[in-house]
Amino acid sequence: MESKVSRKLALVPKKFAELRIKDVLTVERDHKIKIYELIKDVDVLHKKEAQALHNETQLREEFAKLKKKKQENMRTLQKRKESMAMMANNRKYGANTGKWAVVTGSSDGIGKEYAVQLAKKGFNIFLISRTQSKLDALSEEISSKYKVETKSLAIDFASDKPSNYELMSQVIKSLPVTILINNVGQSHSIPVPFAETEEQELRNIITINNTATLRTTQIIIPYIQDTLKANKGTRGLILTMGSFGGLLPTPYLATYSGSKAFLQSWSAALAGELSPQGIDVELVISYLVTSAMSKIRRASMTIPSPKVFVASTLRSVGRRCGAQDRFATVTPFWAHALMQWWIENTVGVYSKVANTLNLKMHQDIRKRALKKQARLQKQE
Ligand SMILES: NC(=O)c1ccc[n+]([C@@H]2O[C@H](COP(=O)([O-])OP(=O)(O)OC[C@H]3O[C@@H](n4cnc5c(N)ncnc54)[C@H](OP(=O)(O)O)[C@@H]3O)[C@@H](O)[C@H]2O)c1
Repeated sequence: MESKVSRKLALVPKKFAELRIKDVLTVERDHKIKIYELIKDVDVLHKKEAQALHNETQLREEFAKLKKKKQENMRTLQKRKESMAMMANNRKYGANTGKWAVVTGSSDGIGKEYAVQLAKKGFNIFLISRTQSKLDALSEEISSKYKVETKSLAIDFASDKPSNYELMSQVIKSLPVTILINNVGQSHSIPVPFAETEEQELRNIITINNTATLRTTQIIIPYIQDTLKANKGTRGLILTMGSFGGLLPTPYLATYSGSKAFLQSWSAALAGELSPQGIDVELVISYLVTSAMSKIRRASMTIPSPKVFVASTLRSVGRRCGAQDRFATVTPFWAHALMQWWIENTVGVYSKVANTLNLKMHQDIRKRALKKQARLQKQE
């Protein structure tokens, strides 16, 4: 017989159970609400994240645009600075005021470019070279294109005749000269051991590269001095073409190498003498440039065309460009400057390593040149 109490007691687990179900439902509901709230939060966060990403992309794009614009502005600024410096340079030497530039070896290659680019800057040009027909054609081209005056003189510097220099003086004595470009030069027809170098080639190289350069400079200096006296504030300029052949002792081009090394010392010494008088003297060092002399036709990163080479030279005059570790000496073309820097800071220009590498390189060039000569002879 169930007592009242026991009946009540029997109800207790049921109550508990109901209570538990109620609790569970409440908890479940709370969880659902929480989950719903969390989903909502996550959704909001997703949207915020997407917005932030969008903003970030936009900012990145804007940043990239600003960076590009800044680079463009820097380039324009640099170009402006360079052209201002160029204009100042040109004014310094008397551009567009009837002043004259004398360029030797000016009918071809690098010399022709010096003549053209100086005419473009507003200098009258006195062209000196070997072939009259080439000089006439260039005179005509320069004067009609750039509206400057020209004069020309066809002489063979190799002959070393005193009459050559008399003729030069005759032309120059009436001209207000401020610039001399000592460009004329000759190298060996192909690399050759010194002992086998033909006497005529040896004499020509020394006569053209050294004697003619010195005599021409000696004749022209007084005329530059006179021009500067009559034109206060104007400066004079004497540029002389050096070479990597003179920078590095070069086996198989020994005479050419020595003649260009001679110009290094001579030009720097002259710079010391003439600088106080307002005449800038610089030796221009160059590795290969496309020309008849180098026998290279196609320009590359390390071998510029005469146009590119001369533009970099005229840009560098009186400024810190290219390799300038030596007084009054410049290696204006950037790739040549890097090469010079690398050689000077690794093996060194006068080292055995540099000499041996140079020897191997020129022995190979000689071999190829002799093969080509033999091939051509067979074809004849
Ligand atoms: N090209 C290179 O890779 C290189 C590298 C380093 C240094 N350089 C130096 O740069 C200078 C110019 O070289 P480039 O390659 O432009 O030479 P290029 O193309 O052979 O031109 C030489 C110029 O000099 C004239 N010339 C040659 N012999 C002459 C003589 N006996 N009398 C009068 N004029 C003469 C030539 O006149 P014609 O046209 O009438 O023959 C021509 O106008 C030289 O001093 C050279 O040593 C050149």
